Amino acid sequence: MEQVRRIKQVINPQYVIEGAGVLLRRSISPLKSNLADPFLLFDHFAFNDPLEGPIRGFPTHPHRGIETVTYMLEGLVRHRDSLGNLGTIGPGDAQWMTSGGGVLHEEMPQRGPAGVIYGLQLWVNLPAALKMSEPRYQEISAKTIPAVNVGGASIRVVAGEVAGVKGPVTEIAIHPVYLDVRLEAGSEFSLPIPRGHTTLAYVFEGEGLFYNGSNSQGESDALVKSTAMVWFDDGDLVRVRTHSQSPMRFMLIAGRPIGEPIVPYGPFVMNTVDEIRQALFDLQNGTFVKGRAG
Ligand code: FE2
Repeated sequence: MEQVRRIKQVINPQYVIEGAGVLLRRSISPLKSNLADPFLLFDHFAFNDPLEGPIRGFPTHPHRGIETVTYMLEGLVRHRDSLGNLGTIGPGDAQWMTSGGGVLHEEMPQRGPAGVIYGLQLWVNLPAALKMSEPRYQEISAKTIPAVNVGGASIRVVAGEVAGVKGPVTEIAIHPVYLDVRLEAGSEFSLPIPRGHTTLAYVFEGEGLFYNGSNSQGESDALVKSTAMVWFDDGDLVRVRTHSQSPMRFMLIAGRPIGEPIVPYGPFVMNTVDEIRQALFDLQNGTFVKGRAG
């Protein structure tokens, strides 16, 4: 019988400051313990509340050994990098950047027509064999992200597959699932996720009921309100419901663990301390950037 994944932990995002003073809500941080392998970091940025201050960004900084995935809900991020790419990620767009051996880039949020900025950034680990690979960008415009409606759920498929519809992101080591799921009030969504794959749901609008095990009294659900990251136990499928009073919107994130030791250091995540030293050495000596210079 198929096992529904129950809640392992609900993570309340913590405020952290990164870049040129950007206040972020962070649910996952890069740690040596690598508990959410292959996921290293999950940040939610916004500049709509006085608390969040004026718009600031992430001036030129390096990455090595990881993939950074930006998904814009509202507003824009202008980006520029050492491969010569220059562009803007707008509402509903995604960018899946594989840093490989080295990228220098700049990420600067801007207000869009709606006047607000909400964006998400996920960091995905790379296996040792790909940490020094050529950098690669997948720019995914909103119109190329397929939308699927299943029951009361409308889903944008950035990566992975729902009801036979595949997302546009390809050739990623961890076989990712990355979905933007809107669930109407009083509806249910379920999706098979391969056993052993790490699975998370970032609830950022509304609230919903997540399966929390069963006992002699029957099945139980736990109510999770935005903003929170649900980390699922292992199983065969994810199942989420909404009660009749509230819809919910969440990102469903899943991927195959890499199972290697990691050493995170700022924007680098490598396998050994020596490789971190090498990254710092390369940065100081102008040998950091891989691929086309520009
Ligand atoms: Fe970055």
